[in-house]
Amino acid sequence: MQPRKRHVLLWLLFCSGMAEALEPISTTIAVGMAAALTGILVKNRNIFYRFHECCRPEWISFNETRLKTDLESKLFGQHIASRIILKAVNGFMYNDNPKKPLVLSLHGWTGTGKTFVTKLIADSIYAEGMQSSFVHVFTSTLHFPHSEHIATYKSQLQQSVRGKVINCERSMFIFDEMDKMHPGLIDSINHYLDYHVKLDGVSYRKSIFIFLSNTGGDGIIQTALDFWRKGRDRKEIELQDLETTLSQSVFNDNKSGFFRTSLIDKNLVDFFVPFLPLEYRHVVQCALAEMRAKRLKPNHDVADKVARDLVYFPKSERVFSVKGCKTIESKLDFYM
Ligand SMILES: Nc1ncnc2c1ncn2[C@@H]1O[C@H](COP(=O)(O)OP(=O)(O)OP(=O)(O)O)[C@@H](O)[C@H]1O
Ligand SMILES: *[C@@H]1O[C@H](CO)[C@@H](O)[C@H](O)[C@H]1NC(C)=O
Ligand SMILES: *[C@@H]1O[C@H](CO)[C@@H](O)[C@H](O)[C@H]1NC(C)=O
Ligand SMILES: [Mg+2]
Repeated sequence: MQPRKRHVLLWLLFCSGMAEALEPISTTIAVGMAAALTGILVKNRNIFYRFHECCRPEWISFNETRLKTDLESKLFGQHIASRIILKAVNGFMYNDNPKKPLVLSLHGWTGTGKTFVTKLIADSIYAEGMQSSFVHVFTSTLHFPHSEHIATYKSQLQQSVRGKVINCERSMFIFDEMDKMHPGLIDSINHYLDYHVKLDGVSYRKSIFIFLSNTGGDGIIQTALDFWRKGRDRKEIELQDLETTLSQSVFNDNKSGFFRTSLIDKNLVDFFVPFLPLEYRHVVQCALAEMRAKRLKPNHDVADKVARDLVYFPKSERVFSVKGCKTIESKLDFYM
């Protein structure tokens, strides 16, 4: 057996808690057993991998370089989001004893890269990325569709998050479509997000919570448009230009899951991250990136064609893409 495989297998035993049980037995025997086990497991890769991932540094370790290069090379037109996310995740992951979980709230127009960025974050922390069994996505319309069941959802959500953090303290929770979540539901977990050493014996302080919504998007667009109309570079837009209006509009939007939530009231959100609306040139970049992802030769003419066929707003000036980069992937099949 190759040394690398042996290492993985020994560690596999360790991960599932079998190593302790094997302690009195010599390593040779353990390796022998491991070899026998490989025979069975390698035949079925799925089973192998299911046993494979566990809540250990071999599977969960932050790669700062990866996040930095990914944000710089793959995320277009989001200088503010890119900067905050790198700073926030770095600071949190390098802190061995964080005082609270990391809570990020991403806001912006559709198709501007919010879901995409959560994937980049997951890729930089979990070897399995979004496929990791420690990354959990809750989508309002899918998981909490009926407002009459809110009481049930509340206790389910609480139990679910608690169980997942007991299983692995380095868990990541993504709440998508916060703007479609029933107001009040998210309050059921907000004490997990607070400064507690432990709650019922569980520490949530090494987990990451990310909220995604379009709430506050209008304010962000207004600011971006103001800059554009004054002929100023969008890179001059600073977080301060957006932050206050953002958290206020989010808090006061009575149709969103954040409505008057103590999540915001008690300052449990560490960073409100604005996503700017995307311009024509960003859409072109998205199209080129998509070609590369599909292993096609990047073709500027086609990218231009794709970008030109999208709809832009406001009607008079046609500055920002209505769907951001969202439909590029499927459009490309049509043009190539
Ligand atoms: N800023 C960006 N840089 C690079 N690619 C982007 C960007 N924004 C969007 N994309 C591309 O478009 C796709 C759709 O974007 P994404 O799902 O992240 O949008 P979203 O902000 O989550 O929108 P929604 O609010 O509708 O969920 C992504 O998978 C990515 O390929
Ligand atoms: C971190 O990511 C970079 C860029 O993706 C990669 O080259 C490097 O090998 C990674 N480091 C580790 C320790 O995985
Ligand atoms: C939300 O607020 C607006 C104005 O502030 C009001 O007209 C509307 O009725 C409110 N909606 C709900 C569901 O409370
Ligand atoms: Mg999304």
